[in-house]
Amino acid sequence: AHTWVENLRLIASNGTFTGEPGYIRSFGPRAAGVDPDAQNVYLLPPNGRSPPGIYTTDSICKSNQQIGVQTPKYPTLQAAPGDHVALTYYENGHVTIPKTQMGKPAGRGTVFVYGTTKPSASDTYLGIHRVWNAQGTVGNGKLIATQPYDDGRCLQAQGTGAAAGESPINLARKQAIDFPDSTELPCQTNIQIPADAGTGTYTLYWVWEWPTLYSNGAVALNESYTSCMDITLTSNPVAHAGDFIAAQVSGKSALSAGV
Ligand SMILES: *[C@@H]1O[C@H](CO)[C@@H](O)[C@H](O)[C@H]1NC(C)=O
Ligand SMILES: *[C@@H]1O[C@H](CO)[C@@H](O)[C@H](O)[C@H]1NC(C)=O
Repeated sequence: AHTWVENLRLIASNGTFTGEPGYIRSFGPRAAGVDPDAQNVYLLPPNGRSPPGIYTTDSICKSNQQIGVQTPKYPTLQAAPGDHVALTYYENGHVTIPKTQMGKPAGRGTVFVYGTTKPSASDTYLGIHRVWNAQGTVGNGKLIATQPYDDGRCLQAQGTGAAAGESPINLARKQAIDFPDSTELPCQTNIQIPADAGTGTYTLYWVWEWPTLYSNGAVALNESYTSCMDITLTSNPVAHAGDFIAAQVSGKSALSAGV
């Protein structure tokens, strides 16, 4: 299992993505000569660790994402306080082929997003995750979103139909929105940049909790993935574009519309 935030998109009020995308720190693109897994995947606890578990010293960010550095040609998102943003990621079968791993939680796990104007290279996972709250009364930032990993729409390119090995969930989702074969529809975490984000840089910590559970719901094994990213704040919010247009979520337009 693995995933990371592929890009950040501004969402206009009518639901359409607008403007230029932004990227996580040290983003490893899907390009020749790049191993995006090595550059982007951050798993806690790491496989095979002894003694097992997440340590209090574990950073909330992968080593190459602990400070705000961008890969050339993959800049930060430019956005204003109050803007709505989609953090997109590939579901990698965790949504549409749920039986691959047993004991996984409803919603295919939960994504938590924390925001801060005071990021630190020494920010730890256990110091922030399930510690910072929505009110911002604990620590140097706040919880700004909690959403299921499965956004209800995303799917993989898995071939064409059950005979070709396509999962029933994938097929049903594709048919529901007349989505083309051989195209992947990323999932999204949708957030709103807080009004008090200020004028400089706003940092987001995206945390996907994907534990393996006992049948009584208790955690048997933790498995979490994070992506760390900066947003460069501007004073130009996305212009109002009218009410959300649900009908646009059809065919390839689903690739450029917020959930
Ligand atoms: C899982 O991680 C949480 C912290 O997020 C910790 O409190 C809990 O003890 C861990 N559980 C196991 C089984 O490692
Ligand atoms: C939503 O608004 C934007 C900005 O005005 C526009 O470019 C886009 O075409 C609109 N989307 C739809 C589905 O009408």
